[in-house]
Amino acid sequence: MNTIDAVKDKQVWNSDDVIRTYASVADLQKPEEAILNALRDRLPNARMLDLGIGGGRTTVHFEPLAYEYHGTDYAERMVEACLRRFPSAGPRTRFFVLDATDMRGVPDHYYDFVLFSFNGIDCVAPHDREKVFCEVQRVCKPGGHFAFSSHNLLYVPRMYRLKWYRRWREFLYQFYRIAMLLYYNGLPGQYANKKFAVLRDGVEHFSLSIFYIQPEYQVWQLQRMGFRNVRVFSYKTGEEVDHSRLNTLSADAWVYYLCEI
Ligand SMILES: C[S@@+](CC[C@H](N)C(=O)[O-])C[C@H]1O[C@@H](n2cnc3c(N)ncnc32)[C@H](O)[C@@H]1O
Repeated sequence: MNTIDAVKDKQVWNSDDVIRTYASVADLQKPEEAILNALRDRLPNARMLDLGIGGGRTTVHFEPLAYEYHGTDYAERMVEACLRRFPSAGPRTRFFVLDATDMRGVPDHYYDFVLFSFNGIDCVAPHDREKVFCEVQRVCKPGGHFAFSSHNLLYVPRMYRLKWYRRWREFLYQFYRIAMLLYYNGLPGQYANKKFAVLRDGVEHFSLSIFYIQPEYQVWQLQRMGFRNVRVFSYKTGEEVDHSRLNTLSADAWVYYLCEI
């Protein structure tokens, strides 16, 4: 991703329609519920950093439980939307602008839990992705937790399939979607032997380039970087997936990872 693309991406996240959409949702995804339950006992004593909060969907659930909650996003207008949405948040809650690739100003080993939910990390340029992991390791305490989700490269062939929809508009829209997928990304078969790829998958009307990675490779990368006890959760079921089964995850558009620093 070059500088022009990075500026354009941020404009997308700062745009009225996108903010309105993200500020109007509140439901947790199933694996997020599983992660919240796994950490529930720790949250009352935890300093939590929520990266890429968007309109504050995860804030609704985590902020009331955490000892201290910092909701952040690199898109200034998302942060403003959260300030409007949570005017009476607790005294230990703050919302501020923060780029996950460069958290200068955040002290070392401050947080107990860092969350980068709903594939926010996949919007980061591929060459900056490791910077996010390094920054999380720096700002999180040893023994702290990091959770994030990332698009699943094994799912790509399914994106090109026609599904049955009752409403003809939705059914017909798929032809446009598949044509655009072919135009931007070519045939799906070429991704079969790749560990990761950057695709235009339709997010925000095909305006963003999104990182996709094989879960097995993501786990290997996290372990290589020193993250411990890496756990994987299915987006569809919310259930934890054993590492021996990661290559079977072709029905999950993205998966969640929970690991220790
Ligand atoms: C798909 S939205 C998810 C929003 C929210 N976490 C949710 O689950 O509803 C991705 C968010 O990541 C943010 N983002 C993208 N790149 C970022 C970066 N480098 N640092 C911080 N936030 C970033 C975007 O501004 C956007 O709000």
